[in-house]
Amino acid sequence: MSQRGLFISFEGIDGAGKSTHLGALARAFEAQGRVVTLTREPGGTPLAEKLRAIILNDAMDALTEAMLVFAARRDHLQQLIEPALARGEVVISDRFTDATFAYQGSGRGYDWQTLLYLERLVQTVQGLEGDFVRQPDLTLWFELDPEIAAQRLAGARVPDKFESQSAAFFDRVSHGYARRLQADPSRFARIAADNPREAVWLAVLQAVQQKGWLV
Ligand code: TYD
Repeated sequence: MSQRGLFISFEGIDGAGKSTHLGALARAFEAQGRVVTLTREPGGTPLAEKLRAIILNDAMDALTEAMLVFAARRDHLQQLIEPALARGEVVISDRFTDATFAYQGSGRGYDWQTLLYLERLVQTVQGLEGDFVRQPDLTLWFELDPEIAAQRLAGARVPDKFESQSAAFFDRVSHGYARRLQADPSRFARIAADNPREAVWLAVLQAVQQKGWLV
């Protein structure tokens, strides 16, 4: 029996705690017989991982950053995401295009309309009924007060370029995610990430079960 591919993205500010739940969700799908591709952005392919190292470590202007992020996304879509979805797999990505709007758009103040243009350019793929703009089927948005996220990150590891940003930056990033949710509410599930880990996991599971993808 061939199954429809599913594309799920995890989003949220740095320190929101999404990472531990990615693997758990992958295992839950595998336990029900699905093949899962676990991936991340920026990254997910050899080329996109090289771009990731540059994006996360080198200083650059916001347009350069946006274009590198979208270049990485194009390769990721073509080489990994689209083929996996075509095989009927579940693709779970640690971040996708909403992060660009939240970080480069709201966080760094880069022009939203230009990002929408780049998104359409990069994420247009061929479907059976013509071209369409690929988006996740579900985006889990881990919502957390930027002050709490900053406390969680402090001292946890050597911060990359984004992790070392101020609470004000992450406040803007959060607003960027909210704006993306308002533009396409049915794609999003809001996860209250300030709850204990077990409660957060149940919220993740519930959001996926509500779609009818896990029993
Ligand atoms: P993150 O996903 O938090 O990975 P890790 O847990 O390994 O640090 O790190 C990716 C960083 O890249 C994060 O700070 C957000 C940033 N980012 C952007 O600025 N734009 C994007 O489009 C994406 C996908 C990520």
